[in-house]
This record gives sequence, C-alpha cells and structure tokens, in this order.
Amino acid sequence: MTTAFITGATSGIGRAMAFALSDAGYDVYAVGRNEAALKEMQAERSGIFPIALDVTDREAIESVVADLQIDVLINNAGMMPPLGNFADMKISDIDATLEVNLSAAILLTRLVVPQMRERQSGHILFTGSSAAHAPFPNVAVYSATKAALSGFAASLRADLSPFGIRVTEIVPGRVETQLYKNILDPETRAAMYAGNVAVQPEDVAKMVVALLELPAWADVTRFDIMPTRPTTPSGSK
Ligand SMILES: NC(=O)c1ccc[n+]([C@@H]2O[C@H](COP(=O)([O-])OP(=O)(O)OC[C@H]3O[C@@H](n4cnc5c(N)ncnc54)[C@H](OP(=O)(O)O)[C@@H]3O)[C@@H](O)[C@H]2O)c1
Repeated sequence: MTTAFITGATSGIGRAMAFALSDAGYDVYAVGRNEAALKEMQAERSGIFPIALDVTDREAIESVVADLQIDVLINNAGMMPPLGNFADMKISDIDATLEVNLSAAILLTRLVVPQMRERQSGHILFTGSSAAHAPFPNVAVYSATKAALSGFAASLRADLSPFGIRVTEIVPGRVETQLYKNILDPETRAAMYAGNVAVQPEDVAKMVVALLELPAWADVTRFDIMPTRPTTPSGSK
C-alpha cells in the first residue's frame, strides 16, 4: 500500500487532498491540531489515519515519523498572519509564520528524506503560493516563507532526483478555504470568495492525484493554479 503523510489535513486544501488520495487508494496519514475534524474525516474514509499534533512540536513529529513508511509527503500546513503593513507587524506573528510555514516543513522533510533515499523512491510536495512569485502588499512575511519554500524545493530536488525522489511546488492563487478565518470577519471573507473568483480545494487535489500517477521518471516540478477571474491584488494568495 502506498502511503501519504499530509500536514494541514483538517481543512481546506489539505483536507481535499486527503480525501482525494484516499479515494485514489492511498493510506493517508492526516495531520492537524483539530481532533474533531480528524475524527470526522476518519469516520468518512477507512483509509484515513488521523494524527493530532502541532507541526511546530518537533518531538511529537519526530516520534510519529519514526514509526511510519512515508511514500508521499505533502508539506501543506500553513497560516496567514494578520494582514497589514510590515512596519506594524508583531514580532510574535513573524515568529509564528516562519515556524509554521517554513521551519516545520523543512524539519519534517529532513526527518522523512532518509527513508526515501534508502528506498530510492518517494515524492515530496510543498504547498507554496502565488505570493512567493509576485509582490502583494500586507503579506511580506507570509510571502517570504513561501518564497523560501520555493527555493528550498528547487535545491532539494537537485539533491534528491539522483535517488529517484520527486519534488513538487504547488503554487495556488486564491483558493476558497479557512485560511483567513482568524484574521478577517465573516462578511469580508464571504466577499473575497463571491462571484467564482477562487479556485476550490478539490481542484488543487485533482492536480495532485494526476501528477502522482505519472511514471516515476516524470517529475512535475511546479504547478500554478489560479482563478480565471481577476482578483484584487491584496487578496491574491
Ligand atoms: N487559500 C488560499 O488562497 C491559499 C493560496 C495559496 C496557498 N495557500 C496555502 O495552502 C495551505 C493550506 O491552507 P488552506 O488555504 O487550505 O487554509 P486552511 O483551510 O486554514 O487550512 C490550514 C491547515 O493548516 C493547518 N495548520 C495551521 N497551523 C498548524 C500547526 N501549527 N500545526 C498543524 N497544522 C497546522 C490547519 O490545521 P489545524 O488548525 O487543525 O492545526 C489546517 O488544516 C497553506 O500552506 C496556505 O498557505 C492557500
């Protein structure tokens, strides 16, 4: 059985990927802090195995990964800090964003890569963002974390492709998820997604299933998925 380990699986893009990969026959290790959401997912699909933890809890991550064979690692967990001019950003929000979006993904990858190298196979994906590749106001640190993931993914690929390991950077534009739930009021969020101006999480998941099905010699190094309709620059990530 092929296994996928997905962080940020309790909501949005990660949840959609967990269901899609389970439907495609993978055993899915679904990671997140929201235990109720994980239980619901497990009840819906027998092939989903919940792992409740915070990705910044290094000891917990290390002990979980030690016992698992992971064929597909999807570093998807992410957070959006409060939107605003960088000059006003709280240091604690800078720290949290760097830790969740960047450090946790790099450290988890470091834990998983040796077993993939040993088996000479595996696929590692990162959920990046269009904010890594174009400037938007009010999201400087978020953009920095996604740009760093992009650079990390590219160099990691150079290290790992000789061992048959594929690395993919997922680059979504606006996707209708819970990403802004703690930082925008419900009306503003609803307005952001009104009028089909967002990609749906299931659209991203379909692309991921398709690229995983390619033969092992073909690596989709990056894919961008954007809404067809124009969005306002400040909300386009
Ligand atoms: N939505 C967009 O427009 C968009 C565009 C480009 C890129 N992205 C990226 O897509 C990824 C998924 O976000 P989403 O849009 O699907 O948002 P979402 O619905 O808010 O999902 C975020 C996920 O990340 C998890 N997470 C956050 N902090 C965590 C932590 N400390 N430990 C463990 N899990 C944590 C959450 O799980 P728990 O709360 O259960 O821990 C949740 O499952 C993120 O990396 C985001 O930056 C989103």
